[in-house]
Amino acid sequence: MPTQPKPSGTLKAVRGTRDLLPPETALWNRVESTARSVFARYGFGEIRTPIFEDTSLFARGVGEETDIVSKEMYTWDDRDRFDERRLRVRWLEMYTRDEYIGSRSNVKAGSAEIDLVAERRGVVEGQEVLITELVEFKPEVRQFDVDRLTSAVNHFKETSGKEHVLGKLVVPEKRNTASSVKELQHGIFIEQLTGEFFLQSQRITLRPENTAGVVRAYIEHNLGDTGQLQKLFYIGPQFRRERPQRGRYRQFWQIGVEVLGPVSSGSESPLRDAEVLEMLATLLDELGIQGWKLELNSVGSAEDRKRYVEVLRQALAPIKHQFCLDNQRRAQTNPLRVLDSKDPDDQALIDGLPKIADYLDESSRNHFAQVCAALDASGVVYTINPRLVRGLDYYTRTTFEFTVPSSGDPASGLGTQNALLGGGRYDGLSEMLGGPRAPGIGFAIGEDRLILTLQAQFNAVSAKYVSYLMHAYIAPIGAHNNAAALALARELRNGANGLRVEVGDGSFRLKKSFEMASKIASNIVIVGDDELSSNNFTVKTFLTGNQTKIDKSELAAFILSQSSVPNDPEWAQDFFKSDREST
Ligand code: HAM
Repeated sequence: MPTQPKPSGTLKAVRGTRDLLPPETALWNRVESTARSVFARYGFGEIRTPIFEDTSLFARGVGEETDIVSKEMYTWDDRDRFDERRLRVRWLEMYTRDEYIGSRSNVKAGSAEIDLVAERRGVVEGQEVLITELVEFKPEVRQFDVDRLTSAVNHFKETSGKEHVLGKLVVPEKRNTASSVKELQHGIFIEQLTGEFFLQSQRITLRPENTAGVVRAYIEHNLGDTGQLQKLFYIGPQFRRERPQRGRYRQFWQIGVEVLGPVSSGSESPLRDAEVLEMLATLLDELGIQGWKLELNSVGSAEDRKRYVEVLRQALAPIKHQFCLDNQRRAQTNPLRVLDSKDPDDQALIDGLPKIADYLDESSRNHFAQVCAALDASGVVYTINPRLVRGLDYYTRTTFEFTVPSSGDPASGLGTQNALLGGGRYDGLSEMLGGPRAPGIGFAIGEDRLILTLQAQFNAVSAKYVSYLMHAYIAPIGAHNNAAALALARELRNGANGLRVEVGDGSFRLKKSFEMASKIASNIVIVGDDELSSNNFTVKTFLTGNQTKIDKSELAAFILSQSSVPNDPEWAQDFFKSDREST
């Protein structure tokens, strides 16, 4: 088939990013509102941190050697910022008190705010006079600035009665030439001051994850001083320059939680780990995710890890060459990364490597045993995966991932990306970022992956009901009934039942109205001349095929009773649940 020529210049979303559109966004909203409601029950409050941060936050927090920091971050140098204050202070320093006898800052001259009015003694045509200068500080001179200054000078001359009023635009000049003043046009001068008047640019990164940002905020706002355990959650986009595929995007969304605080707040307790994991199990169940699995491990304290990494390095040295190139590099730079490699040819080799569990000190072992005991007591099923070390450097002790059945199984909807969420403890992160001791634990759910899983696990019927099915479609007969139709829609929408209502157009033929209505609404309400004069409306319910005449006073209640979607803010959830149970 011949392909249609594409109009040139068609713009598309950037690779790895995507638009989320209705009705799918209804599912996103439902997921987020369910998460919010579960988090509220467990005492979490929302935190919103900036989407970009100083690059060094991630370099220090997540780790220079991690894939995220070494390969995947969107980083740029923010432009140098002109520092007007510095230029101004320097200018004032340059002129001695003798020459300049007075100054006022930020004076309104005409319509222009002038930074400085300075007065000095000068000589004009052989006469010693008092010269008033209006000074503006600018990084570059544009005609607009000259015009502004000129009109300010004129205005000042008229209102002050002074004859010698000059305008000066002071601009920074990096080159090491002497400062100079030259006349630009009559009465307006440009003064070039040599020196460095720009603040150095900052390296900025779009956040690839949110834990480092949360801990930065914890430190910056002294949240530890409250002595309380901070239980925080976030929902927002993250950015990683990964190879896009199903379930892996360059802008993706995370729903995450962080629990941290001073040791005295109980932040180090294994109970916190178990509670976070139990909450996750509750959330996934409430969302209706089927077949999830919790994989758990302990990577020990920072010292345990250091010891284990050395053992691993030694174990890898003689067999390194048998691994794929990526793993050979990791064996050198970050041996722990070898453990979570997905390369199929390396799996047998990896299974033969020493296990971290054998290198934990007693306190880490005890901590992990207590996490497991608390999970057993609350009935959360898990498997221990000794290879689960996670791809971020801040983890200590408990690490975990929740997966759904992996690739090939349509229940996951995730392609080869089967980690729905990941998390763990980060007892030293606050100190790594220059903060006080503040052990913590958290997780982040890949919301895109959660949605894909829900979509794959729910059948077509349930997916349909996630869309905003309208209660009624109002079909005016004849354009002269359009206004009455809109008035009726308003009553139904804003009345006690708060119905979801769509209004057609009287110029449509009735057949077209029926076709449109049947796609988006449970009922169609005919608004014709007869209906309006009798206040008795014809309603057809698509589910049953019944057509009835209903008095206006009972219309809203009738429509509601004939709608297949419950009239309840949680309607989608209710519908999901009942639908899920019946399949
Ligand atoms: P993470 O394992 O890097 O951990 O990411 C958490 C989840 O985000 C993953 O399990 C996955 O579902 C999702 N995810 C990651 N990258 C992508 C991507 N490119 N496209 C779609 N989804 C993705 C963290 O980010 C840690 N901050 C979690 C944490 C919080 N640990 C302690 N507190």
